[in-house]
Amino acid sequence: MEVHVTGGTGFVGSHLSNRLVERGHDVVAVSRNPDESPVEIDDSVERRGGDVTQSETLDFSGADAVVHLVALSPLVKPRGTTHHEVTAEGTRNVVEACDRDGVERLVHMSALGADSDGETAYIRAKGEAERAVAESSLDATVFRPSVIFGDGGDFVSFTKLLTTPYVTGLPGGGKTRFQPLYVGDLVGMLADALDEEHVGETYELGGPEPLTLAEMSRSVYEAEGRSLRVVPIPMPLAKVGLSLADPLPFVPMGSDQYRSLKFDNVVEGTNDIDAFGVTVDDLTTFDGYLGLE
Ligand SMILES: NC(=O)c1ccc[n+]([C@@H]2O[C@H](COP(=O)([O-])OP(=O)(O)OC[C@H]3O[C@@H](n4cnc5c(N)ncnc54)[C@H](OP(=O)(O)O)[C@@H]3O)[C@@H](O)[C@H]2O)c1
Repeated sequence: MEVHVTGGTGFVGSHLSNRLVERGHDVVAVSRNPDESPVEIDDSVERRGGDVTQSETLDFSGADAVVHLVALSPLVKPRGTTHHEVTAEGTRNVVEACDRDGVERLVHMSALGADSDGETAYIRAKGEAERAVAESSLDATVFRPSVIFGDGGDFVSFTKLLTTPYVTGLPGGGKTRFQPLYVGDLVGMLADALDEEHVGETYELGGPEPLTLAEMSRSVYEAEGRSLRVVPIPMPLAKVGLSLADPLPFVPMGSDQYRSLKFDNVVEGTNDIDAFGVTVDDLTTFDGYLGLE
């Protein structure tokens, strides 16, 4: 198959591009700066320039399927653009380009909690993007994962940005729960999703166990031989602090990041990993990845 991956040079995209090559596919990785990637990408992957906010720069001709990964990170404030422009309008552009270039198959990357009426700009844009996909005539599959970790990802460094070693303050004591999923496990499922049987499905995916932000932060420091004691910062205080940071470009977080910490990011019903013949025991744990098991 010829598979075009938007955001194919990003964290998930680099791992996915490599996995698709291993599975024998021809891969085109599309992004604005196609020569840059956080992990090495196989030489056989064609890196192609394209900006999802400018539909005329997209060219999916020849593709049997598009995997659409582009979005802005929810962990830091967007600079010079918005979640709406990149994720919502960008997805409409990708859908239009698929129609224009004769592509019928789309695997779309969303996120747990995607909701056009949601609490954060990221979650709202993800909801709008899902609507654009649902309103299209494409044979689509939607992925809604929890947080993803692995080489080249920014989640581990994010926990360090939020904390200081030994004693740290975390909003609400860091009790927000996530269900971290290893990128190597996720990209296997994304590659499988190209099969016909997954058309029309939406999958909510998480790792083997829910973990709080405090637990994950402790593991990150433990892997470096350091301890971490978490001191709760009352949520109202965190709200004021991060709201004040909104207009300050040199502070990476703001009120949206505060709001995202108010909600758990875990699969509420069934973890849809079973749709790919995967069980919890097959998945890499966060501590295992950090070398703690
Ligand atoms: N990482 C997580 O924990 C996580 C959790 C749930 C869902 N997701 C979703 O998974 C997807 C991939 O995430 P990721 O962590 O791999 O993100 P990432 O590392 O930030 O990669 C984003 C990719 O998109 C490209 N890109 C950004 N803006 C673009 C634009 N306007 N036009 C074309 N390409 C653009 C980037 O390259 P250039 O900058 O060179 O253009 C890069 O290749 C996203 O949809 C994200 O919301 C991620």
